[in-house]
Amino acid sequence: MTSVHHRERVRLPGRETDIEVGCGIRARLWTALAARFPRAWRFGLVLDRRVADLWPMEAPTVGPRPLVVRVGPGEAAKTRRVLARIQDRLLDLKRDEPVVAMGGGALLDAAGFAAATVRRGLEWIALPTTVLGMADAAVGGKVAINHPRGKNLLGAFHPPVLVLADVDILATLLQRDRVAGLAEMYKMARIGDAELLDLLRRGAPADPVAWCDAIARAVTIKARIVEEDERDQGLRRALNYGHTVGHALERLLGPDAVRHGEAVAMGMGPAARIALARGLVDGALVERQARDLERLGLDHDVPRGVDREALFEIMGLDKKRRPGAAHTFVLPVGDVGVQIAEDVSEEEIRAALDP
Ligand SMILES: NC(=O)c1ccc[n+]([C@@H]2O[C@H](COP(=O)([O-])OP(=O)(O)OC[C@H]3O[C@@H](n4cnc5c(N)ncnc54)[C@H](O)[C@@H]3O)[C@@H](O)[C@H]2O)c1
Repeated sequence: MTSVHHRERVRLPGRETDIEVGCGIRARLWTALAARFPRAWRFGLVLDRRVADLWPMEAPTVGPRPLVVRVGPGEAAKTRRVLARIQDRLLDLKRDEPVVAMGGGALLDAAGFAAATVRRGLEWIALPTTVLGMADAAVGGKVAINHPRGKNLLGAFHPPVLVLADVDILATLLQRDRVAGLAEMYKMARIGDAELLDLLRRGAPADPVAWCDAIARAVTIKARIVEEDERDQGLRRALNYGHTVGHALERLLGPDAVRHGEAVAMGMGPAARIALARGLVDGALVERQARDLERLGLDHDVPRGVDREALFEIMGLDKKRRPGAAHTFVLPVGDVGVQIAEDVSEEEIRAALDP
C-alpha cells in the first residue's frame, strides 16, 4: 500500500527538490517520470546491484524505457572507474531525459555526480534505500566520488528534482547499515532538533511509521540548513559534526572495516571532549552523548587499536583543513546546538582523542 507520510520542498535559487517520505512510495516513480518528463523516451536507471536484486524495479510497458546501469555495492560505486561506466551509459540520453538513482548514500553520490556531468547536467530523481541515504545523502545536492587523496574530493552541487524515500525498502538493510544511518540522524538532532533527539534517546525507531517520523524530522532540518547555505560557506558546515575525525578514520580503515555513519559517531566523542576542554559543554553532556550513541548501537570513540599517528597524518591532508590554519571541528555547545571552530590545535585533538 502506498502512503506518503511527509512532504518537504527544498528551495534553492532556480531549483527545487520535492521530497516524499512514506511507505510503498517507490511505485510513485512511474507517474512522477511521466508527469515531469513527458518528452522523455528513455531514462537512466542507476542501481546499487544488491538493492536491484532485492527490490527489482519493473518499468511499466507504457512510458520511457530504462537504460540500466548496475554498480556497487556501497562505497565501491564512488570511484572514477565506475563513474566513467555510468557516464558512458548516460551519454545515450538526451538533455531532457532524466536519471533515476536507487541505492544508499554511496550510489546516490556517484550517480548524482554522473548526472551532474553528462551533457552539463541531466535532471535526476533519487530513490534512497538506506537510513543514511534518506535522512541525509539524498537531501541537499552534494554529489561526489572519492579520490585516493580523500573522500568526496571530486564532486558537484547538483540536487535531484525529486526524492522518494520509501521506508519499506529498509526492511532488507543489514542491522549494521541501519545503525550507521542512525549516527547521521543523531547528528542532525544534535545540530537542531530537540524532539528528534528525544525520539532517538528512546532507541532506534521500532516500526515503519516511526522510521517515517524520524527520517522526516532529519530531512526537515537538513532542508532548512541547505536552503540557508547551499554551497557550504557557513551554516552547512555544521553537518560535519563528527566528520573531521570520522573522514580520517574512513580513509585509514576503509569502508569494509568502518561504515561512514560508524566513523562519524566515533568522531563525536573527540569533538565533544574538545568542546569540554574549551568550556563549551560540561562533562555530563559528554557522558550523555556516549550513552545515547551506545543505546543506538554505535561506538563514540576511536577504537584503541587504531594507529593514532597514521590518523593524524591523514587529518593533516583532510580537505576541510584550510592552508595555514589549524583544524576545523564542529563542536557541541549544548544538548542541541553546535558551533564551527576553525582554530583547533593538534594538541587539543591529541588530548581529546584519548582522555
Ligand atoms: N551527499 C551527501 O550529502 C552525503 C551525506 C552523508 C553521507 N554521504 C555518503 O553516503 C555514503 C554512505 O551511505 P550509506 O550509509 O547509505 O551506505 P552505502 O550506500 O555504502 O550502502 C551500505 C550497504 O547497504 C547496501 N544496501 C543499500 N540499501 C539496501 C537495502 N535496502 N537492503 C539491503 N542492502 C542495502 C549497499 O549495497 C551497501 O552494501 C558515504 O559514501 C558518504 O560519504 C553523502
